[in-house]
Amino acid sequence: MILVVNGPNLNLLGEREPDVYGRTTLAEIEEMVRHACAGWNVGVTAFQSNHEGQLIDFIQEHRRQARGIVINPGALTHTSVALHDCIKAVGLPAIEVHLSNVHAREEFRRTSVVAPACRGQIAGLGPRGYLLAAEWLCAETARRVAVPGAIRPPRPAKRAARGR
Ligand code: DQA
Repeated sequence: MILVVNGPNLNLLGEREPDVYGRTTLAEIEEMVRHACAGWNVGVTAFQSNHEGQLIDFIQEHRRQARGIVINPGALTHTSVALHDCIKAVGLPAIEVHLSNVHAREEFRRTSVVAPACRGQIAGLGPRGYLLAAEWLCAETARRVAVPGAIRPPRPAKRAARGR
């Protein structure tokens, strides 16, 4: 299962500054991601909040079931050391997604304090950015399928089962 986490004001997608963020609603984006992940047999748990602490609580609560995080922190991108620390703390691979190209807008949007805690960032590709991020996580975290007769690399040292 992967987490799709959206921060402040992203609940208003579809009506919010459509010339910047487009007309696709958050529910539609989540449905597109669910559909793409179903092809990988991976479930999706989506959450949106306008409150920093609720986003952190959600990520913490799902940390043991999830194999990765797609996150658009909204304006918290530019301010939230707490979200940065949360992503580091849970140790899950995370991709930061922005609908708009934050690097081509106001100066204050060019800095992300969350991105350094993430594996990568996708910005400016609209709703498809969420799909690309989700598919990357599915591919990157796919369980290896045993091929009979294949020479396999030595097993890594045993770790506690995490039930993903
Ligand atoms: C955004 C970009 C942020 O700067 C802004 O505060 C948002 C949306 C995006 O998806 O383009 O709320 O994260």
